[in-house]
Amino acid sequence: MNICFTTNNAHKLKEVKEIVGDSIELLSLSDIGFSGDIPETHETLEENSLEKAQYIFDRYHTPVFSDDSGLEVLALDGRPGVHTAYYSGSRDAVANMSKVLDELKGESNRKARFRAVMTYIDQEGRINQFEGIVDGQIADDMSGADGFGYDPIFIPDGYDQTFAELSSEIKNTISHRKRALEKLVQFIKSSL
Ligand code: IMP
Repeated sequence: MNICFTTNNAHKLKEVKEIVGDSIELLSLSDIGFSGDIPETHETLEENSLEKAQYIFDRYHTPVFSDDSGLEVLALDGRPGVHTAYYSGSRDAVANMSKVLDELKGESNRKARFRAVMTYIDQEGRINQFEGIVDGQIADDMSGADGFGYDPIFIPDGYDQTFAELSSEIKNTISHRKRALEKLVQFIKSSL
């Protein structure tokens, strides 16, 4: 079975391929002949994730799934949330993390979570969404060199190091993406 994953990010595609295994053949956007940007115009992860999958389904009529994820900080009323990628106004990871750290200065409640929402649209156009969450804390400073995005300031519950200090094996076992994807893969396999 072929399913398009709405990404051209090689790192994400590899990560997702490892979790999905051989039973499903994953196609990237370029594999199906799409180039350009898919609009993300909404204020929730659920709506943006659906928008991306629907955009591709409407044009290619192929089974497709998309993901949208973000960091939600409790003391910041869930921000940066859907604005995670461009929180400081740019995609610059250090600027984005600095903004969160500045906003949390003097705040003792450091609780946060990464949340991923995956949307799967099957051949018939039926829509299902799957959520994955990893709970944790925002560190006082940035530490660690691995990973991407906000990894240097996120300490997952049960660990005392940031995602950027922990091995990718550990991160990929407990991440929000992994948790959402596991539900999605289970759903697809059970409906084959
Ligand atoms: P996306 O929807 O998966 O592209 O994620 C939006 C933004 O959330 C990214 O640009 C990253 O800044 C951040 N993000 C998502 N997942 C992670 C993660 O696993 N670690 C660190 N940052 C992440």
